[in-house]
Amino acid sequence: MLSYRRGLDAMPSYDGVEKNYRIKVNANESTMNLPPLVEERVLNRLASLAFNRYPNEEYYSLVEQIAKNFSVEPAQILLGGGSSEIIEKVFHAFGGAGQRVVFPQPSFSMYKIYAKAAESDGVPFDLDENFNLDVDAFISKVREVGASLAVVCNPNNPTGNALTPAQVEKIVVSIDCAFLLDEAYVEFYGRSAVNLVAKYPNLLVARTFSKAYGLAGARVGYMIAQAEVTRMVNKTFMPYHMNKLSLATADIVYQMRDEFVPRLQFIINERNRLAELLKNLRGVEVFPSETNFLLIRLERAEELKNHLESLDIGIRYFAPSAFGLKNCLRISIGTQIENDTVFAAIKNFLGD
Ligand SMILES: Cc1ncc(COP(=O)(O)O)c(C=O)c1O
Repeated sequence: MLSYRRGLDAMPSYDGVEKNYRIKVNANESTMNLPPLVEERVLNRLASLAFNRYPNEEYYSLVEQIAKNFSVEPAQILLGGGSSEIIEKVFHAFGGAGQRVVFPQPSFSMYKIYAKAAESDGVPFDLDENFNLDVDAFISKVREVGASLAVVCNPNNPTGNALTPAQVEKIVVSIDCAFLLDEAYVEFYGRSAVNLVAKYPNLLVARTFSKAYGLAGARVGYMIAQAEVTRMVNKTFMPYHMNKLSLATADIVYQMRDEFVPRLQFIINERNRLAELLKNLRGVEVFPSETNFLLIRLERAEELKNHLESLDIGIRYFAPSAFGLKNCLRISIGTQIENDTVFAAIKNFLGD
């Protein structure tokens, strides 16, 4: 009889479905692999790695680049296995029995799981019917429950909308506890709060290479906060938790990040084009998006998801139990052909 940790069996699992669809627009990945020039440089770099050595050099090389880009000290940067690892560790650093973590819902479904894993109490705060966050009420909630950590995803997954920098700053200044801002999709929005880190010791910003840089497979993310905060959060990581291959890859990608600018613009343009097309379909509600995906609501959402799956198109459907997301579907932005194919399939399904 195996004696697992108490409560482990009751822990929810991440419900991401990973099937290789012909058109895979269910996980907010980049639909394009690395630009050829970047890929060539990555492969050259990987060919000359000292595999026998721990990855110190590669870790600090990437840290220094990121620090330079944001005009912060290297001591203000932590790297993680995707922003997932960063977020999980921040929940641990500010977690523990009796600690409370407040986060909006619907939002990234992992927050409640990380809260549980850190043995904290997750306190979801409901977005309104248009998925807007009532900033004042959120601040009151954080204070009222005496939270040790508040988390906001900006722009928000899966709703797509965003708080303004002024709204973010209002939250930071109005709460005493740590405030983790998850900026996984910020490159598609263009309004980061990283510049506020210098002013506010309670602000931690998590970023990722997975979305805008198309590097979901390499698992690289980073956190920016004041040096004392990174020093403390760093205690929750294993030594050498990042692997050298991913670090070297991200290092080249970051050096060549200008190569990704036209792609970002392309995704934003395609997102806006697809949103307009979908808005013209009867019975389809399209929510505003500042990300690389669109959230839509329509009556026969589950049927549509099944129909698209039968065509080997994977989009994200939310279980009826997911707060506020009844009849909602999330579609990541693909290539022009993929977006047109998805749109035609939806139009056809609706008989529009
Ligand atoms: C809001 C948000 N945060 C964090 C992540 C984690 O991404 P990664 O671990 O690939 O950086 C995701 C992934 O979908 C996300 O949607």
